[in-house]
Amino acid sequence: MKMISERSVKINPEKKISSKKRIVLISDTHITRFRGPFNLHAYNLGIEQINKIKDVDLYLHLGDITHNGTLLDYEYAMEQFKKFKPRSKCPIMILIGNHDAMNVGYLLFEEMIGKRHYEYEDDEIYVIGIDSTKPDLPGGIIHHNVIEAVRRRLEKQERENKFNIVCFHHQLIPIPNTGKERSAIDDSGDMFKMLLETKADLILNGHRHTSNLYTISSSEKDLYIFNAGTFCCNKTRYRELFTYSIIDIKESNITFKIIPILDSNSKHEIQRQVNYYLPLEIEPHQKPICKFIQISDSLINQQSENINTNFDRAIDKINTIEDVDLVVHTGNVTRNSYKEEFKIAKDKICKLKHPYLVVPGYTDSKPPAWEYWKHFFGEFDPLYENEKLYFQGLNSTTRDSTDGFIGRKRMGKFIEKVLSLSHQKIFGVCCFHSLIPTPLSVWRTELIDSGDVLSQFARSQIDLCLNSSPSISFNVKIDYTVFSNGGNLNPKRFDETFLEIDIYKKGKVVVKEHNLKTGQIKIVGNYNITIFF
Ligand SMILES: [Fe+2]
Ligand SMILES: [Fe+2]
Repeated sequence: MKMISERSVKINPEKKISSKKRIVLISDTHITRFRGPFNLHAYNLGIEQINKIKDVDLYLHLGDITHNGTLLDYEYAMEQFKKFKPRSKCPIMILIGNHDAMNVGYLLFEEMIGKRHYEYEDDEIYVIGIDSTKPDLPGGIIHHNVIEAVRRRLEKQERENKFNIVCFHHQLIPIPNTGKERSAIDDSGDMFKMLLETKADLILNGHRHTSNLYTISSSEKDLYIFNAGTFCCNKTRYRELFTYSIIDIKESNITFKIIPILDSNSKHEIQRQVNYYLPLEIEPHQKPICKFIQISDSLINQQSENINTNFDRAIDKINTIEDVDLVVHTGNVTRNSYKEEFKIAKDKICKLKHPYLVVPGYTDSKPPAWEYWKHFFGEFDPLYENEKLYFQGLNSTTRDSTDGFIGRKRMGKFIEKVLSLSHQKIFGVCCFHSLIPTPLSVWRTELIDSGDVLSQFARSQIDLCLNSSPSISFNVKIDYTVFSNGGNLNPKRFDETFLEIDIYKKGKVVVKEHNLKTGQIKIVGNYNITIFF
C-alpha cells in the first residue's frame, strides 16, 4: 500500500509574540484548617518552588482555593497566601472554583479576594478569566450573557493579532483518568462554539485534579485546551500527585511544563505550535475515496408503518446519493422500544440501497428491547468492514437509563484493532452518547467514562467518531480524530437533517448537512486528517 502522510497545509502563524510570555499556573489548592483534603506539606514545598521562578508575566490560580468556601477556610487561605513571595513582580489572577462558591462562599470570595471575572492584557497577550460556578453546586455554567461578553472582548480589533487565553475553573470537555464524568458546564457546547468562532488560542481549566492537553483543530487554526492538575489537594487521580504548570509562549510556540511538586526533577514537558491552515484543495469533479451518511433519532412508533416519516424521506434522499460506503444510524431508532416499532424500523431501513450500521440509543434500551434488537438488528456492537474501511459501532446505552458506558474491555479490544490495521484502512467508530458538548443543548455528560473514551479515540489513529446530537450538527477535530455530532431526524426543535461525510485523497474531510425541510446542503465541517493509502 502507498503511504501518504501529507497532513495539512500549514501557513505561517498569524500571531507572533516577540518577547517570551510566562504564565505560572496553580489550581485546586483546597485549603482548609480541617486537614483532610489539604496537604500542607505539598503546599509549602510548591510555594517555595514557584516563589523562585523567574520572568513570570502572570500568576494564575484556577479556583478551588478553599475546600468549603467558609469563613474559616478563607481566613486560613489568606494566612497561607502570605507564604507566596514571588521573585517576579507581576499580576496575580485568582479565579473562583465550585468549592469556593460552597456555603455562600462567593460572597467571601468577592470580599477577601476580589472580582469573579478578571482580565490581563499587554501588547501581545490577552487573558480573560471568568466565573464558571453555580452557587453551592458542583457543576458549572457560564451563562449566555457571559459567553456573548467574552465573544465581544475576543473579537475586538486590537486583539486580532494577540495571543488570546480564556480561563475558567470547570473543564470544557471531558478529561481522561478522572473516573466518572461529572460536574461539567451546562452550556459548554455554546462556550466551545464561541471559542472556536472567535479563534481563541488557549483555554485553561482546572477542577478535575489532573493535567491534560487536547489539540482542537478547526479548518483554520489550532486551539489548545490545557487542564491543570491539583497543587495540594489529597484528592489526586491515578499516578499524578501534586503539580503546578509553567506555560511559556514565544512566537507561535507554546511549551507546557507540568512540574510535580514532590519530585520537581521529573517534570513533563509538551511543546506545541499554534498552526494556521489553508484548506486542501479539491479538484473539480474529484470523487471522495470514502463517503459516510450519518443519521439519528428516527424515533419510529407504531403509527409510522404506513406514513411517510422523516426516516422514509431521509432514506429516499440518501438513495439518490451515489457511492455511499456506509450509512450510520447513531441511535434512538424507536420511540418506545416496542417490538412492533423495531419491526417497522427494520422494514424501513432495509429500503436503503447502501450498506448500513445501527447502534441503539436511549429510547431503544427499555426492557426487553435488547431481545428485539437482537432479533431485528443483530449485533449490539456491529462491525462493518470492506477493503478500505473498518467501522465499529458500540452500544453505549445501559438498560432503561440515560446513562451511557463503553468500558475498558471493549475500548481496549477496539483500540488494539485500530493499532494493528490503522495504516491500511480508514477507521470509524460510533455510539449514541456524545463525547463532546454540543451547542444549544444542556451538556448532560451522560456517558460515564467519556473522558477516557474521548481521549483514547482522539489519540489513536481513529479518523472519524460519529455520535448523536440533542440539537444541531456540530463537529470538531480533537487530536487526530474528527468528532461529528448530528443527523437528527427528530423535528421537535431543530430542522430534520442528515450528514454526509466525504473523505478525499490526502485526508481532506468535508462534512455536509442535508436539510430535509429546506432541501439545502450546507458545509458544516472541513478538516485534514492523516490517511495512509
Ligand atoms: Fe477541586
Ligand atoms: Fe472544582
